[in-house]
Amino acid sequence: MCKKWNNEEEARAEIKAMVGDYYNQFKKSENDHSDFKPGDRMGYGGRVYDEKEMQALTDACLDFWLTTGRFSKQFEEQFATWIGVRYAHLVNSGSSANLIAFSVLTASELGDRAIRRGDEVITAACGFPTTVNPILQFGAVPVFVDLTIPQYNVDVTKLEEAYTPGKTKAVMLAHTLGNPFDIKAVRDFCNRHDLWLIEDNCDALGSRYTINEETKYTGTWGDIGTSSFYPPHHMTMGEGGAVYTDNPLLNRLILSYRDWGRDCYCPSGRDNTCGHRFDGDYGELPHGYDHKYVYSHLGYNLKVTDMQAAVGIAQLEKLPGFIKKRKHNWSRLHEQLSNLKDKIILPEPVENSDPSWFGFLISLRPESGLNRNDVINYIESHNIQTRLLFSGNIIKQPCFDEIRGTSAYRVVGDLKQTDFIMSNTFWVGVYPGMTDEMIDYMAQIIREAVEK
Ligand SMILES: Cc1ncc(COP(=O)(O)O)c(C=O)c1O
Repeated sequence: MCKKWNNEEEARAEIKAMVGDYYNQFKKSENDHSDFKPGDRMGYGGRVYDEKEMQALTDACLDFWLTTGRFSKQFEEQFATWIGVRYAHLVNSGSSANLIAFSVLTASELGDRAIRRGDEVITAACGFPTTVNPILQFGAVPVFVDLTIPQYNVDVTKLEEAYTPGKTKAVMLAHTLGNPFDIKAVRDFCNRHDLWLIEDNCDALGSRYTINEETKYTGTWGDIGTSSFYPPHHMTMGEGGAVYTDNPLLNRLILSYRDWGRDCYCPSGRDNTCGHRFDGDYGELPHGYDHKYVYSHLGYNLKVTDMQAAVGIAQLEKLPGFIKKRKHNWSRLHEQLSNLKDKIILPEPVENSDPSWFGFLISLRPESGLNRNDVINYIESHNIQTRLLFSGNIIKQPCFDEIRGTSAYRVVGDLKQTDFIMSNTFWVGVYPGMTDEMIDYMAQIIREAVEK
């Protein structure tokens, strides 16, 4: 027998209520770690959700709009307001966000400030590869600057040395695992030389930084900020990312590069928003060529679906709580490991910052005689997940085999700290799904690993 509802609203309410019951019966336990026992699996990150996310996803499924639609628009508006920028756009990953952020800076509309092939972009070799890849994929030259420890961010004293007049066009850097880089120094440097600043904010959503008593979220100090919404990140929609800016021209370019490179900015499913669909002149096209099919850039299609965005809306409501919990977990672990300072280097927040931590970085002191693999194997053998600082030194990765030692990239001075991190550093999670008992157990196991 087919169930009959009086109207769609009633049908949705009932279906969503059932989804809520489903969550409570079958999924809730996944998010409840109150019965944690030593030896239970402890991931470094993971999605933290309740029935709200599942109901939002159901709502989007029942719309069956599938592509970018009302939920995406709502998320973009709410996210922009939350982080404090004029424009935010959803994309399908943090890597796509970085690709878009970089690509828009190559647009001819930017005149002399546009990045051309062979131009240089200052960045770091230690980090996530897709902060660097767009630079190389385009044919620009990444210029690698070393980091400082225990901040694990760019050594700003090397920036002037990295600068090549007439060639350096931008700085593209991540805030490492939530710890902001020295935004004041980097911004002053960019202002001095008229350079673009892209903040890869994928691991730092909710981190704050203060300059001259003005406190803002990371990702909003530069020209463009990027976020990732992959599950271990500060909030998730499965796959997803965002690109944000205050600059109206960059905003238009972001939309164009995200949406096939098109000139038209109609939302999906709409036509003739500009009112000039058939009366323009573009390139060498015939007069009045349909504006919907005019391409002003070599773009991509990196949009998200409305199902992802709907989950994001529910997660955004939880974000302040997630950030608070990450800070709490990080501080608790820091305190418990503080008496191991002779063996390990503990992470420290950058001056003038209030980090929303993605993870907890630990470096083994050279004089400790400890071997990283021994330490992480001990921790992993207790079912606690560990991670390395991503690529370590990207130049040493196989993806650099064909270009290593060529002029495809440049290194400023040496990468001593980067290489140290590659061999001696690892990190553990502080994600909001962790309880005090889990943090305390993790601290105990780390202590055993370095003292045994
Ligand atoms: C700093 C940084 N940038 C970019 C990314 C890429 O994000 P995504 O996995 O969503 O592509 C990551 C991934 O974790 C990251 O850590």
